[in-house]
Amino acid sequence: MAAVAVAVRSVARSRGAFLLPASPGGPRPRAPLSWQSSGPSRGKKAKAALAALGALAAGGAGLAVALHASVAAYDVDLEPPHWPWDHGGLFTAMDHSSVRRGYQVYRQVCSACHSMRFLAFRNLVGVTHTEDEAKALAAEFEVQDGPDKDGNMFMRPCILTDCFPSPYPNSEAAKAANNGALPPDLSVIIKARERGEDYVFSLLTSYCDPPAGVTMEEGLYYNPYFPGEAIAMAPPIYDEIIEYEDGTPATMSQIAKDVCTFLRWASEPEHDVRKRMGLKAMLIGSMLLPLFYYLNRHKWAVLKSRKIVYRPPTK
Ligand code: HEC
Repeated sequence: MAAVAVAVRSVARSRGAFLLPASPGGPRPRAPLSWQSSGPSRGKKAKAALAALGALAAGGAGLAVALHASVAAYDVDLEPPHWPWDHGGLFTAMDHSSVRRGYQVYRQVCSACHSMRFLAFRNLVGVTHTEDEAKALAAEFEVQDGPDKDGNMFMRPCILTDCFPSPYPNSEAAKAANNGALPPDLSVIIKARERGEDYVFSLLTSYCDPPAGVTMEEGLYYNPYFPGEAIAMAPPIYDEIIEYEDGTPATMSQIAKDVCTFLRWASEPEHDVRKRMGLKAMLIGSMLLPLFYYLNRHKWAVLKSRKIVYRPPTK
């Protein structure tokens, strides 16, 4: 076998490169030079055509996407504006009188449908109400407790350590009372929704008539900020729906602002402490920074300014 292969190769070599190329990358028969210089080679032409085709395909795809997006009707929910919250700044605390008014709004309006299971009456003490006021607020509600020594459950007024009672015994009852829609628990709603209080404020104040040609189903209301624009919550607030105990004029936007501030505090009770800690950390950090810089330079000065010299051995 080996002898045959050697023979074939030697024949090939003797006949030039026509039978078998001597080496795969070796010399190939050349095309006449005059043809080469007359214009771009075939390969170049094909490449240019391919590039044109690619550009056309990409452009077409881009146009299709743009046209599709311009007529898509599913993603037209409004982006809520940035409202100037008192607590929106880097170093600004919650407006506690607003939080207090917000509790009043929740108590008198929202608590008819929405629970706030994770908030207890004791949380209000020192934030919005005094201890005695909070005790009085708690005593307005009753909870089931027990069993007593005869094994019976009984009702008693709420105390400070009780959580806010829910308006419905369970979520099925809540749905049944609200046209099949479940009013979400509001304890952490500000953190549970994108854009937090900006969104909730816009939602509460932006009910309006549906645009021409849009008909709402029974029990749904048009609201441009709600995803899908049809919300099962009837407009909950309007001017003068409540009377503030501190005499603040109860306009619709005032009520919405106060309840949103209250809900922000409920979602993030550590808000003020967090910002105060941040301020302290920045102050102390800014004092320590020059010190650390100096220390760093001091410690490294010896290493960074040393010189290593090679002294060849002398005989
Ligand atoms: C009559 C009952 C009722 C009252 C009163 C009410 N809500 Fe609602 N709320 C609902 C229902 C039902 C839903 C669920 C809507 C849906 O999923 O379509 C809802 C949903 C919400 C949502 C969630 C929207 C979302 O993005 O999912 C927020 C926030 C909210 N309500 C805030 C409030 C506030 C604040 C108040 C008081 C000012 C209030 N609601 C009063 C019934 C009510």
